[in-house]
Amino acid sequence: MAAQPDAIDRRKRAAAEAAAAEIGDGMTVGLGTGSTAAFAIAAIARRMRDGLSVRAVATSERTAAAALSMGIPLVAMDDVDSLDLAIDGVDEIDPLFRAIKGAGGAMLREKIVASAASRMIAIADASKFVDRLGARPVPIEVLPLARAFVARRVTLLGGTAHLRAGTDGPARSDQGNVILDCAFGPVSDPAALAVALSAIPGALGHGLFVEEIDALYLGDGDGVIRRDRPPPTADG
Ligand code: A5P
Repeated sequence: MAAQPDAIDRRKRAAAEAAAAEIGDGMTVGLGTGSTAAFAIAAIARRMRDGLSVRAVATSERTAAAALSMGIPLVAMDDVDSLDLAIDGVDEIDPLFRAIKGAGGAMLREKIVASAASRMIAIADASKFVDRLGARPVPIEVLPLARAFVARRVTLLGGTAHLRAGTDGPARSDQGNVILDCAFGPVSDPAALAVALSAIPGALGHGLFVEEIDALYLGDGDGVIRRDRPPPTADG
């Protein structure tokens, strides 16, 4: 039986709090976007009230507003050379720590922050853990004038692109771009698909994360399962 919404929230919170416990004094931390990341932001704010000192880079305007409202000092991505840790949610993650992100539309900034971080922890409730990626679409942030062009390229790669709708016209990213949610079905080679999507002119960023995630905290009915990224196999 599927978990009820409040049970899912408890699992997200448990995973987020376990990840926030990894933060050390003086760290620069990347703050993800979404409902699970929101629990991490609240946990970090609580730790700061107990004396922890951190500064943070936000992956979205929503996250920036939440962090500031809880007293977490922010720094611009441009003003940091690197981050110690990034903590963020996922939409799907597989056993090799390939993931789909971006249901919240923040995947471009999320990938920049994750790539700049020495370590990235993914946090999720256990329903996000899948054998194979692809039940959910891969979002792509697209320069508005290239929307139809990118959609055609996605079709050539075997996908179907849907323009994400907002409340008044197309949804816009924090950067003012549009988002194509691209359904590919089961993804047999996430790394190859990530490379192909990155090569489309006008596609500014996509939600397929292949190499960024180092550790995973999964909240399930019995607590939090912590896993490290498995070592690469001989064939990569
Ligand atoms: C935001 O753009 C996304 O990448 C989120 O991190 C992802 O969709 C997970 O969101 P939830 O924690 O709300 O499920």
